Amino acid sequence: MDMMTRIATLISETMKNLWPETAGLPAPEELRGLLAVPPDPKMGDYAFPCFRLAKALRTAPPKIAESLCAGWQHGEVARVEPVNGYMNFFLNRVHFAEELMEELAAKKERFGASEEGKGKTICLDYSSINIAKRFHIGHLSTTMIGHSLKRIYDFLGYRTVGINHLGDWGTQFGKMICAYKKWGTKEEVEQGGVAALEALYVRFHEEAEKDPALEDEGRAWFKKIEDGDEEALSIFTWFKEITLKDAARVYDLLGVSFDSYAGESFYIDKMEPVIQELRDKNLLTQSEGAWVVDLSEDNMPPCLIIKKDGATIYATRDITAAVYRQNTYHFDKCLYVVAYQQDLHFRQVFRVLEKMGYAWARDCVHVSFGMVSFEGAALSTRKGNTVHLEDLLNQSVQKALEIIEEKSPNLEDKENVARQVGIGAVIYTDLSNSRIKDIDFRWDRALNFDGESGPYVQYTHARCCSVLRKAAEQSWPAPDWNALTDDEAQSLLRLMSRFPDVVREAAEKYEPFMITRAVTDIAQAFNKYYYEHRILDGEPAQAAARIALTRATAEQIKAGLYLIGIEAPERM
Ligand code: ARG
Repeated sequence: MDMMTRIATLISETMKNLWPETAGLPAPEELRGLLAVPPDPKMGDYAFPCFRLAKALRTAPPKIAESLCAGWQHGEVARVEPVNGYMNFFLNRVHFAEELMEELAAKKERFGASEEGKGKTICLDYSSINIAKRFHIGHLSTTMIGHSLKRIYDFLGYRTVGINHLGDWGTQFGKMICAYKKWGTKEEVEQGGVAALEALYVRFHEEAEKDPALEDEGRAWFKKIEDGDEEALSIFTWFKEITLKDAARVYDLLGVSFDSYAGESFYIDKMEPVIQELRDKNLLTQSEGAWVVDLSEDNMPPCLIIKKDGATIYATRDITAAVYRQNTYHFDKCLYVVAYQQDLHFRQVFRVLEKMGYAWARDCVHVSFGMVSFEGAALSTRKGNTVHLEDLLNQSVQKALEIIEEKSPNLEDKENVARQVGIGAVIYTDLSNSRIKDIDFRWDRALNFDGESGPYVQYTHARCCSVLRKAAEQSWPAPDWNALTDDEAQSLLRLMSRFPDVVREAAEKYEPFMITRAVTDIAQAFNKYYYEHRILDGEPAQAAARIALTRATAEQIKAGLYLIGIEAPERM
């Protein structure tokens, strides 16, 4: 049992002793949730706010805190003090250090990992790029939030299924084929990749302004794809391969992978039964020639299922995909990591599923997020004002290399470290704030080795590794944990002790940034410790304790960075 759970249990016992007759007092689990770590260690190691008890006890919180502290009988907490309605707990510092250090040494990078998800499946729909479009910075968040959540759920013992729900269906692909047939060449597209496809698409629209008949030609080509025409399909498949080949380079750089690439086109032959089901359940109504599910009771516009021309839409495929995923994976949750602009779309889709009678519709979650701007400028695809992710990543690696050349010219394997640092800087920025907040990407911040940044946390890890390499040159006696009772060591230990909670909370709220925050706090606390204490000097048994703390810090930072998708170089 961890310390917070134990304190919560003890508070609960104390409450029951003091007020055996009172109903409505919180259970230990709730008490645990209320326990906090005060920002200043002088206020204790943990604090319990008594405000929640005021109603049930009809007493003011400061009085409750006093009674609870007076009635406290448990030796493992060194001291407990009432302050302004809080109970402040002061732990026995040596015990705390010893217990935690032993647990950390046993679990290493698996500290915080658990089996709580055993037997449960989470589907994650993330990245979900569009065919014939370049991977731009707008797809960074979905990719990294999804990837991180997948690792977090894996860490908690869930089975996870990562799905790249490709945008590979729609009339625009007919237009692309049309443009390719008219103005493109095989060599050009092979060479230019997705950029060449994008250029063809732009050309199509320019020409169609002058010659509207092109639109019909485009539609005809799409019809051919739908009807399985050999030529149309082979060009379309080829476009898809080109897009995925380009995307694979970005995924490689980011270290991201998927279990499934079943995109929109995968559901084409699976929609009919679902549409029939909607009809059988009397959910389809006709509206201006189109078939829709009426959602007026839910204060939402109708969900379009079949357009006037008989074509299905994005939502039809998402409804079908959800049913397919439930039947195939039997998910306990299906997460859709998609920008907040699609909020209404997902509310409609989930509501339709609910109306179909699927109780699991409630297990579908839209994990939305804000926008990314770049050096203060908003991005828009339409105006061509986009930042291509591959360029951004390569630039970041280049800039990291320049900094490394300057800071540590003798470092071995510089290129590889620059890759880890450059990519880490971009990912860290993306996952450094609550996901719904907009992000402004700025080079000076992302690559600031001293600020709150990926390189800063990575550098701290490398610093720990360097101390450990030096320590490995000699042997050490058993650690004397009395060496870890100072304020700096205790702050660091407290932060580390919270890590399992942080992971759980990050999973519960779908918020990878909580882990970013936690590793940053740990890195800062370690650096403070490092400046105040000489790790390898002094009495050997005490040095051994400080070395163990350094090792635990390195392992913890590495584990945390892994969960947000960032590598941890050992030298920088
Ligand atoms: N391809 C879409 C886009 O780029 C995102 C798809 C999200 N997933 C889904 N199942 N609808 O906007």
